Amino acid sequence: MIAAPGVAEEILELKQERRAILLAHHYQEPEIQELADFVGDSLELARKAREAEGDVIAFCGVWFMAETAKALNPSRVVIVPDKAASCSLVDSCPAEPVREFRRRNPDHVIVSYINTSIEVKAESDILCTSRNAVKVVNSIPAEKPILFLPDRNLGNYVKKQTGRQNMKIWQGACIVHATFPARRLLDAKAAHPEAMVVAHPECPEQVLRHADFIGSTSAIIDYCGSSPAREFIVMTENGVNFSLARVARGKKFHYVANENCNCSECPYMRLNTLEKLREALISLEPRVEIPEDLMQRALIPLERMLAVK
Ligand code: 13P
Ligand code: SF4
Repeated sequence: MIAAPGVAEEILELKQERRAILLAHHYQEPEIQELADFVGDSLELARKAREAEGDVIAFCGVWFMAETAKALNPSRVVIVPDKAASCSLVDSCPAEPVREFRRRNPDHVIVSYINTSIEVKAESDILCTSRNAVKVVNSIPAEKPILFLPDRNLGNYVKKQTGRQNMKIWQGACIVHATFPARRLLDAKAAHPEAMVVAHPECPEQVLRHADFIGSTSAIIDYCGSSPAREFIVMTENGVNFSLARVARGKKFHYVANENCNCSECPYMRLNTLEKLREALISLEPRVEIPEDLMQRALIPLERMLAVK
């Protein structure tokens, strides 16, 4: 969507007035990324949020990321342009069944992907992102059984990478990555035989097995920037193209449409627009508010994750 003229300038003024920092995920609309103080993957955004100064964090991403920012920097006002910006993984994993699993399996270590609600985080032993999931699982003593939740594709990928047998996996999925069909990737490979395949670990195994590189959004961008290859098939949300065009100037990128929207855009991430961001900076709503006790409980697994080197 094209923003009305002047909206970007208004946002920049409001940002100053509000003493706000604008954090954006790689899947945001390009015009939002353009205005951001920092664009990154979910782990980088969590780290940036923790050290953010000023009064307001305008978080352009999905709600669970903004909840993470609030827990890490509770004295800041944290706003998101659209409160409905959720995530299919969050929706696939309510807190009550996780509590029930804990009651029945007190010996299990619960490793939760950061794409979970604050309530599920509070029930978890440690969190992870796509960037550090293998390291996080490797940091858990080998004899401890694990429940990994909620993404089955990331869980299967981590299980394979770590060789961990005692790991149960929740059956949630990302509606963007889990619906990339392997046959469309094979068609793209046939059309662009020189291209390397880069993929996010939320993709299904049938896709990942064809990948030359698997990593988080920022890891994919860094890889394409530093690789000597000139052409890539990118198996993730096409918002990454904004940074790819900057760090890998002159290289070619091809995107594959999924079976959910016949596109490669996250419908939740794309709810955020410049106009909604301007309104949020004016009203300081929608605002993330988390009960103190819940926030303190969620902070424990979050800090444990950030301590994993
Ligand atoms: P990253 O941690 O790689 O940014 O991924 C977040 C996400 O939601 C992927 O779909
Ligand atoms: Fe959630 Fe998938 Fe969107 Fe990422 S791309 S926010 S995992 S629905």
